[in-house]
Amino acid sequence: MKKIAILTSGGDAPGMNACIRACVRCAINSGLEVYGIDRGYKGLVQNKIFPMDTHSVCEIIHRGGTILKSARCLEFKDTETRKIAADNLKNLGIEGLVVIGGDGSITGAKALSDEYGINVVGIPGTIDNDLAYTDYTLGFDTAVNTVLWAINALRDTMTSHDRVSILKVMGRHCGDIALYAGICGGAEYILVPEVPYDIQKIASEIKQNKERGKTASIIILAEGAGNEQDIKTVVSVISGADVKFTTLGHVQRGGTPTMADRMLAAKFGTKAIQLLIEGKTNRVVGCKGKEIFDMNITEALSQKKTFDLDLYKMASVLS
Ligand code: ADP
Ligand code: F6P
Repeated sequence: MKKIAILTSGGDAPGMNACIRACVRCAINSGLEVYGIDRGYKGLVQNKIFPMDTHSVCEIIHRGGTILKSARCLEFKDTETRKIAADNLKNLGIEGLVVIGGDGSITGAKALSDEYGINVVGIPGTIDNDLAYTDYTLGFDTAVNTVLWAINALRDTMTSHDRVSILKVMGRHCGDIALYAGICGGAEYILVPEVPYDIQKIASEIKQNKERGKTASIIILAEGAGNEQDIKTVVSVISGADVKFTTLGHVQRGGTPTMADRMLAAKFGTKAIQLLIEGKTNRVVGCKGKEIFDMNITEALSQKKTFDLDLYKMASVLS
């Protein structure tokens, strides 16, 4: 393999830049020619492919976002569009493609490989942590730390005013950001799409707690776990508390990556390039604890994400 390309796709995630840097530097160090692709599959279809060198990735290790930019490209779900993308790579003599993105992006990479023989390696990059085959995805740790910062700030003011705070966090269909931030931030309640909950019971508990002198609480509400206005109304009516609602939104997607995400980026990027060099393609990289592994892309995508109920139960004991 002599020429490879890298793209970032789907929602950006902190650590993507550090990962691009790792891929570029590792590949160049091994004598490969490296190309970047602008704005994910959109740029691949539009043939926006450009050479990169070791200087292209200077001063980016600490920056959130992605210098390659990202996009959602719905047309890529059509095989005809994927043919254009594959032809663009083949015309430039690019033999390997690294795709950094979430479930959808890696599904796109698999299709490109299955249908048009492109050698792909997928790197899990999404704040959602919704890929089943890996313990962690790139960006998750930073996003959770951002939520923790918000919980700390909210706790200060909620305690001063005896209020209840509902903090809505991202995750699409996955409650991991809410779960990890809730545990580490000491949230009183964690509402996730994977576990049913009784908001009336929670509101009654908040009322009882208030009567016993515990006057402030934090409820973490994961995206997809219920309507925030309805929850706010039930909690304020039943508990009599002053309830404030905050949506953290895209703040969670940016910011300087944590040590954990930078380390994961370095290891994932290096492993992905090694796989391409060894001719082990149509793989994804992932981590189990500190160990980095690779797996067949089809097998990885066929795994169903399970929610960690033990952690969830632990959170309710500790809160
Ligand atoms: P993520 O990669 O973070 O899960 P999306 O689900 O939005 O984000 O997917 C990102 C992009 O991956 C989509 O815009 C599309 O270009 C591509 N993609 C998603 N699903 C598929 C699919 N089933 N087949 C081919 N490409 C897909
Ligand atoms: O997949 C990452 C994510 O931030 C999800 O948590 C969220 O549901 C979605 O992307 C938001 O997408 P957009 O940036 O297109 O609004």
